This record gives sequence, structure tokens and C-alpha cells, in this order.
Amino acid sequence: MIDTAREWLTEARHVCVLTGAGMSAESGIPTFRDALTGLWSRFDPAQLASEDGFRANPALVWDWYAQRRDGVRRAQPNAGHLALAAFAKRHPGRLTVVTQNVDDLHQRAGVADTIRLHGDILEDRWLTPCPKRPACDPGSADPGTPPSCTACGNLLRPGVVWFGEMLPPQALDAAEQAAVQCELMLVVGTSGAVWPAAGLAGAARRAGAFVVIVNPHPSEIDGEAHAVLRGSAATVLPELLRGL
Ligand code: APR
Repeated sequence: MIDTAREWLTEARHVCVLTGAGMSAESGIPTFRDALTGLWSRFDPAQLASEDGFRANPALVWDWYAQRRDGVRRAQPNAGHLALAAFAKRHPGRLTVVTQNVDDLHQRAGVADTIRLHGDILEDRWLTPCPKRPACDPGSADPGTPPSCTACGNLLRPGVVWFGEMLPPQALDAAEQAAVQCELMLVVGTSGAVWPAAGLAGAARRAGAFVVIVNPHPSEIDGEAHAVLRGSAATVLPELLRGL
């Protein structure tokens, strides 16, 4: 199966990669839905990854993201990130990486123009858009609580897409374009549980692309795949891309 996928890769002018939390699992960043270690098996997403949850308990959510940020900063790109970046370097303009992940491991591996569907955990933004110019200045905050504007009380929040929020339109549009224009879509480390990201594999397939999934476990979008490579990102990607 991997030899077939390598042939398809060789013939594909444009390759679109869609990654999920499994891409960063071997870098030590927990996934969301893996049964034992997944974040959502230990925390309630509605409480921690939603605007209502943040408004209800800003300190809890801010502190949880601060811990996740520390984990991202300590993490290193794994062999899967590095294999994708090396392929992108060998084939300028031929690979588009679309990620659901909010870590910066694709970028640190060398894929600078990664399309980020769910934002960036290392960025902050204001909870309510600041109408003032110059914008609010975050005042000092007690550790574990979000900085707030000393003038209007606006709170800083993590720059990620929370449940129920719209994805950044430009990122989603770029991802959809990449999905329908590629000849091969490589889907790595996603359960396919969250839309619209999960819909990109079907969009690519309907536009005529080969779809290859890399995942040690079944996902909700396996049915969209022409080939499923049962294995981990850090093991399969270096083997899949070697020498191509
Ligand atoms: N290599 C590849 N895949 C892996 C690995 C690995 N080493 N380890 C786990 N996986 C797979 C799991 O089998 C699972 O299918 O990664 C997937 C992780 O699924 P989720 O935890 O649901 O993560 P993801 O699909 O990225 O979630 C999508 O949901 O909570 C929201 O915004 C959050 O971006 C996230 C979105």
C-alpha cells in the first residue's frame, strides 16, 4: 500500500497535507480524542474551549492554555514534521500544509506558510474587538489570570478557534482551494470529527484527488481514503516521502 501511495505522490503536481493532533502526538503534545491520553477524556471541551466557558471562568481557561502553551514551547518537531518540511524544500510550491493544530511545530520544522485553520495557541487576542485606537493596553495580571485592559476591562484570550466559533475565512478559503486543486491529499493524524476541516478530504476526493490517510487507528473519514496507512506520523511519513 505504501508503494502505491509513493507512486501517486511521485505523479502528483500538487500535494495537500491535512494534519490533526496526531501529527504532534510523538512530539509529546496530547491529542484531543485518543481514549486514554486525549485532552477531552480529562477535560470538558465546553468548559475549556469555548467563549462561554472562558467568560464563566477566565482564570481556569487562561491557566489551562498557559499549561498547554508551555507544553508546545517544550515540544520539538518530530520525524514526521521534518519529513514533510524536507519534501516541501525539495519541491518548492508543490506541497501545501493545512493544519488543525494550534502548535507551531510545522513552522519550526520549516513549513513557514502553513495554513492554520484553528489559530495559534501562542497568540493572544482581545475577547471583544477593541474599538479604541490605539487599542487597549493589557494591564498587569495576577499569575494564572488573563491580562485585562486597565481602561475598559477587556480580557485577553488565546488566539485559537473555540467550539462554536467561525474559522478564519482566509485560512478556510485557502484550505478549500488547496484541497480541490491537489492531485493527492495526505491526511495525517486526525479523527475527522470536527468540521469543516473534516470535509476537506471528501472535497479533494470529489475533485479527483487521491486521498491517503496516515493514522494508527480508524477515523471518521477513512471512507474518503483510496489508501489507509495504519501507522504513526513519525514512522510512516519518513518512509512514505523518502527519496521523493
Ligand atoms: N500519528 C498519527 N496519528 C495519530 C497518532 C500518531 N502518532 N496518535 C494518534 N493519532 C490519531 C488518532 O488515532 C486520532 O485519529 O490522531 C487523531 C487525533 O484525533 P483528535 O484527538 O480528534 O484530534 P483532531 O482530529 O486534530 O481534532 C480536531 O478538534 O478539539 C478540536 O480544535 C480541536 O483541532 C482539533 C479538532
